[in-house]
Amino acid sequence: MQNIILVGFMGTGKTSIGRELAKRRGMEFIDLDDVIEEREHMKIADIFKEKGEPYFRQAEREAVRDVCGRKNLIVAAGGGAVLKQENVGDFASCGIVVCLEARPEIIVQRTSGHAHRPLLNVAQPIKKIRELLEKRKSHYDKIADHIDTSDMSLEEAVEKIMELVSRKINATFKDHPPADL
Ligand code: S3P
Repeated sequence: MQNIILVGFMGTGKTSIGRELAKRRGMEFIDLDDVIEEREHMKIADIFKEKGEPYFRQAEREAVRDVCGRKNLIVAAGGGAVLKQENVGDFASCGIVVCLEARPEIIVQRTSGHAHRPLLNVAQPIKKIRELLEKRKSHYDKIADHIDTSDMSLEEAVEKIMELVSRKINATFKDHPPADL
């Protein structure tokens, strides 16, 4: 089974949905932020503070390369992983990519009180969320499949992704049947 990669802005549900999806499909779950923290022996917030965002993006790039060399994973990518085109290319070639979305008001609720997202650790997070969403729109728009989780329960979101993944697998099978059929 190829990987399933969840991309999308912070607070769209990539980690919680990814974990549940992994349980349901009997696959391993990997959060790219955890891979980065392990590789760097530092927390994400400290990497941003002490080494800066460009350094973090490079560490994220290396983590994407590592993870894309593996199979059978459900991957939750960081919200900014799509900013590098090489990451988007790697994701597309190592799995089925689904972009999760949510409205800014929902994102602010889901992310408030979590200090581990340095980009949203500002006086007016809703303003920052709107700005970043606008800035990143063209990057997220490059992903073909989007699911808005704003009004979905965890269970509903997992079901939707399972449906989408099955549809994609069936379509690939039809277009490229195994040679012995
Ligand atoms: C980021 C998202 C975070 C984390 C880092 C930067 C972003 O991951 O990688 O704080 O630029 O959107 P989550 O989307 O898992 O919160």
